[in-house]
Amino acid sequence: TQGLTIHKGLEGVTVTDTELALVDGERGHLVYRGYWAKDLALQYTYEHVAYLLWFGKLPTEAELADFHAKMAQYRILPDYLKTIIDAIPAGVDMMSVLRTAVSAVGNESYGWPPTVEQAMELTAKVPTIITYRYSRLNGRQPAEPRKDLSHTANYLYMLFGKEPHPAHVAALDAYLVLTAEHGMNASTFSARVTTSTRSDMASAVTTAIGTMKGPLHGGAPSEVDETLAAIGTKENAEPYLRSLLERGERLMGFGHRVYKTRDPRAEALSIVAKRVAGDDPWLDLAVHVENVAIRLLEEYKPGRRLYTNVEFYAAAVLRAVGLPKELYTPTFTLSRMAGWTAHVLEQAADNRLIRPQSVYTGPMPR
Ligand code: CMC
Repeated sequence: TQGLTIHKGLEGVTVTDTELALVDGERGHLVYRGYWAKDLALQYTYEHVAYLLWFGKLPTEAELADFHAKMAQYRILPDYLKTIIDAIPAGVDMMSVLRTAVSAVGNESYGWPPTVEQAMELTAKVPTIITYRYSRLNGRQPAEPRKDLSHTANYLYMLFGKEPHPAHVAALDAYLVLTAEHGMNASTFSARVTTSTRSDMASAVTTAIGTMKGPLHGGAPSEVDETLAAIGTKENAEPYLRSLLERGERLMGFGHRVYKTRDPRAEALSIVAKRVAGDDPWLDLAVHVENVAIRLLEEYKPGRRLYTNVEFYAAAVLRAVGLPKELYTPTFTLSRMAGWTAHVLEQAADNRLIRPQSVYTGPMPR
């Protein structure tokens, strides 16, 4: 093992090539298969982008109609899956419920190699799993999925049991598009590791959900919400954030392994947040907190280049469309389904077992 260099956190290590996304941390660029993610977010729906990621091109009207019909079929949960969800105690968090339920999706076709049909099925079922559980916990009859609604509109419909406002659908679509794919992030990498053993698509997604759950990855937006609630007023922003930094704590919604400038998704989401939240004082506070945080991070962590990441304004958008805090990370998961499954297909198409090394630092036998 002598001479091996350890790359803690695999920083700077390139593990594969990919046609799915370019994440340029210096320039703040995010591209999905030749399109700027922010342009896609403002012009297209989540279904368009899932199609783009899986099939390599945007769908025509006819292709989109077929694709929509197929995805809509897959939204329905079989009874056995409902029974599994119902058996999980009420105190278990939604990400764990999702992880458990997704691990039970599948049939004899779920083997090697993984297929795009399975990507569609899993992606289509995740919103139904979340809303089924959410309704049950809140003592409401879970709404059956509606085939006439888009992926995003149907999610909001099943969640609240009523037709969603078009402005909310557009804002949530923009969020889902912006977070659908992001190169070799921790959860995507873990999905690819699972796939590299020739395991199946549901196993790969289950792995990814477990990875997504952590606060350093997908768990941040609800913590952004909590920080803003604790701050409460503009005057309190500086003393509060200072006290966190004095204690060596991290400011949620800031910093990124790859982006050393403002995350382009934060840029786009701040526009979407303004559109949908209008003059909500919470958003006004968020903008103020962002400015103070950037200044203080430069003071406490000079040279680390810590800027706003996607999670900061994600909290603002999700809140504006009426999502409860406990569904922020599950909703992030729902969006990343397209990216994860596209990576699973890409990994499978040119597979080699992912198997890095470690340096042994324990004693040798005497
Ligand atoms: N607040 C305060 N200090 C920070 C922060 C932060 N948010 N992020 C990094 N630092 C400091 C860190 O303490 C370290 O300081 P020092 O050099 O004195 O030890 C330095 O910056 C480098 O940090 P690191 O831990 O080596 O950076 P990383 O690339 O391993 O971590 C990160 C990236 C996203 C985990 C981290 O920035 C973080 O914890 N941010 C807060 C959580 C968050 O917002 N997560 C969402 C990430 S974006 C969406 C996603 O990927 O899911």
